[in-house]
Amino acid sequence: MQDGVIEVAVALDMSLGESPVWSVARQALYWTDINNGHVYAWCPQKRGAPTRTELGEKVGCVALDEAGLVVATASGILRLPESGEPERLADNPEWKKEWQQAGQGNRFNDGRCDAAGRLWAGTIDAEESNASAALYCLDRGELTRRLTGIGISNGLAFSPDRRWLYHTDSLTRRILRYPFDVDSGTLGEGQTWVDLETLGLPGVPDGAAVDSEGCYWSALYDGGRIVRFTPEGELVAEHPVPCPHPTMVAFGGPDLRTLYITTATQHLDAEGKARWPQAGSLLQMRTGVEGLAEPGFGG
Ligand code: BGC
Ligand code: CA
Repeated sequence: MQDGVIEVAVALDMSLGESPVWSVARQALYWTDINNGHVYAWCPQKRGAPTRTELGEKVGCVALDEAGLVVATASGILRLPESGEPERLADNPEWKKEWQQAGQGNRFNDGRCDAAGRLWAGTIDAEESNASAALYCLDRGELTRRLTGIGISNGLAFSPDRRWLYHTDSLTRRILRYPFDVDSGTLGEGQTWVDLETLGLPGVPDGAAVDSEGCYWSALYDGGRIVRFTPEGELVAEHPVPCPHPTMVAFGGPDLRTLYITTATQHLDAEGKARWPQAGSLLQMRTGVEGLAEPGFGG
């Protein structure tokens, strides 16, 4: 693999690949296909195919847990132990079972754990157009609403010094950062940090990862590229992706220098799928900079 060259890591036909997360302890990558309710697990060094778990409902994101994984789905937040039954940790306050058939209710979307082991996960407006969604935090069994008035909660990440929480409402095309206190889990007032409009960048900011230099890598959904911003919000790199809808990135591999990129086909017609055959696959790119080890869920 050559630095900066994007290639297929695992050929797949996912509708909405999302939420890649690397476990240093297990040397494994996990990710989801939100629309199909799938969770994938894959050890690149073993060279085999990924395993796939069907959850029977949409699954927005996955996080690491000592016993296995934690997932935020349409109905709520669940622990998925490597062996044994799933354990329900919290219900989704914006969703009811009787709404499922009608496609109503806001499912969970993007999320990740902070360094203290809290799970932060946001929801997405069912029509992807109203500001009805929110950002939640699950801390020692208690789910609290932290930000409201959101359309599509995305791009959650933390600075390496733990002083900032990054977040985007994709509908606004802006990425905000909030002063963050990791001991108490409190957020200060958000400030616009990056505005795609001002920078003349296409698409919307979707999922992200922060590297060891504190730079923020953002997947531009419908923008066909991955962009890298310094902590000051300056655009320093653009990597075109061979499909219009990259969704999120994660650093992984033995040296944390492989950038894994999930992608979507949900907004492509037959012509689009033929034009971008790598859409729907898991992609990868070697980088000159290391990522950060992802913290797990703490309870
Ligand atoms: C959502 C998708 C949405 C995309 C772009 C993703 O996080 O799950 O439904 O289309 O962001 O906004
Ligand atoms: Ca996302």
